[in-house]
Amino acid sequence: MCGIVGYTGKRIAAPLLLSGLRRLEYRGYDSAGIALATEHAIRLWKKEGKVSEVKNEIESDPDQSIISTSHTGIAHTRWATHGPPTTVNAHPHKGNSDPKVVLVHNGIIENYRVLRTKLEAEGRTFLSETDTEVLAQLTDSLYQGDLLDALTKALNQVEGTFGIVAMATAEPGVLVVARRGSPIVIGIGPEETIVASDASAIITHTRNAIYLDDNDIAKINGVEIDIRTLTSARVSREASEIDWSPEAAEKGGYEHYMLKEIFEQPDAIRNAIRGRIDVDKGNAILSGLNLEPREMAEISRLLVVGCGTSLNAGLVAEYATEDFCGMHAEVEQAAEFRYRNPIVGSKDLVVAISQSGETADTLAAVCEAKEKGALIAGLVNVVGSTIAREAGRGIYLHAGPEISVASTKAFTCQVSVLLMIALKFARSRRMSIESGRCFAKAIADIPALVEEVLKTEDEIIKVAEKFAQYDHCFFIGRGYMFPVALEGALKLKEISYIHAEAYHAAELKHGPIALLDENMPVIALLNQGPGMEKTMSNVHECKARSAPTVGVITQGDEEARSSVDYAIEIPACPMHTSVVPATVALQLFSYHIARIRGCSIDQPRNLAKSVTVE
Ligand code: AGP
Repeated sequence: MCGIVGYTGKRIAAPLLLSGLRRLEYRGYDSAGIALATEHAIRLWKKEGKVSEVKNEIESDPDQSIISTSHTGIAHTRWATHGPPTTVNAHPHKGNSDPKVVLVHNGIIENYRVLRTKLEAEGRTFLSETDTEVLAQLTDSLYQGDLLDALTKALNQVEGTFGIVAMATAEPGVLVVARRGSPIVIGIGPEETIVASDASAIITHTRNAIYLDDNDIAKINGVEIDIRTLTSARVSREASEIDWSPEAAEKGGYEHYMLKEIFEQPDAIRNAIRGRIDVDKGNAILSGLNLEPREMAEISRLLVVGCGTSLNAGLVAEYATEDFCGMHAEVEQAAEFRYRNPIVGSKDLVVAISQSGETADTLAAVCEAKEKGALIAGLVNVVGSTIAREAGRGIYLHAGPEISVASTKAFTCQVSVLLMIALKFARSRRMSIESGRCFAKAIADIPALVEEVLKTEDEIIKVAEKFAQYDHCFFIGRGYMFPVALEGALKLKEISYIHAEAYHAAELKHGPIALLDENMPVIALLNQGPGMEKTMSNVHECKARSAPTVGVITQGDEEARSSVDYAIEIPACPMHTSVVPATVALQLFSYHIARIRGCSIDQPRNLAKSVTVE
């Protein structure tokens, strides 16, 4: 989810690249860099921190010759995935010492270690820890005067995703762009071409743009654009008119970041899973855990700590680990864990879940668990964050920047990764390879399930319109659907200010049922699976007390549909993976209720994106 800008044309490139980076910085980047080209020379400036840091570097450079004359350049703001956010890891990256090729990249190169080993054997040395430098060095090694040809050959060796802009010292004025899984937009001006990772960096210059397709590569020289496929076949791509406002462009055309991030979930989950599922071996590949099967087998308990949404994801991990691994698993609210003198030791793996990696209570729990000798792993979205560094080992979510305060794609990526951890533990114990393959495939199927739910947004809006006027409501579920009820209630309360509470469905009759009447709607998780019949009985108890009811049901389940006033359907799938589509349905339900109520969805009152105080 990095920001990329490139320019070639009549104007001086540096100020245009810097303003483009600033438009992309809204997603909270951690380092930035620029490369400028003139006749037979390319210079780079890179700096950790905000775009303003590299801007200062450029403006204070005593040699302004290239800066004030270059008409071609590339620029990048980094959302770290491989290697912490440092100056040396910042893009652009280049070939060997006298660069023939310089490039910027957005995406994940899965086979970068293999490629790096091969290039090191050829005598190339690397400066950074990034996957991108491997691509730069590979392209540089293949370069024989034709950048389009060299990058085509390099990308045909790459597994993974990319959005790329590259330059070559010997081809001033030329940019070569390519995409697979990470967008590249080509903005067409009267005497210039501007490329970017999203339209927000282009539309202040032109609204006439070409969106490359996956596996397209294009050579751009001024206003000449030559588009090929990675099999070198020439193709044409129609230009289109970008009719968004600059502010809408930053949200990808969505009204709020939250809705954009809800719809990003299929790709975000694919990135979280990418390269981590081995269906053939029926196992997960989680090198970041840095635990051999024997060490996994010797761990007696999984203990998950977190707060808020991350805590809800941890409850899914508790159920799945017990369910599939036959081992003890617990989830604890991080502050509670830290202060209640927990019994924890060297046979425990403590997994700290945190999107931001900066939540004070979760960090404190990590430190306390370390003091007691536990193994620690982080499950974090922000690379190089405090919890990630304190944990020392772990798995990055690769969910991309999550801007909206209400967490959506982080939760579904957390659950997907936690299911992979459960798979890995299970296969180090009694799970067979066949069962492992089924589990691995079920995890790999999650993005498609989310896509199915997203297609039903219009139906969900119709249900949300019926419930936007209430000030209180219950969410109920049992088994894997209990954490879904918790997450659904948290989403609704934090963005719509409706007093939403979640209960284990069996808990209703132990007190909460006293609150049921026609003003207390109940949202029930009724999708097919263990315990669903009992929750159905709870729904009948609610209806008998005039409570309006919404059921999250399995597509085609007419019995469940007839038991509720309104239904939201999710695709049939195993109970443990149904956590994700059921949650996405409730994300949309909550979002549209908050929208109808006119709430400040991305920045709800009283809330912060990261709670860095206890
Ligand atoms: C969830 O929508 C909230 N924004 C909040 O509960 C959040 O999940 C919690 O503060 C934990 O944040 P973290 O994942 O960054 O540690």
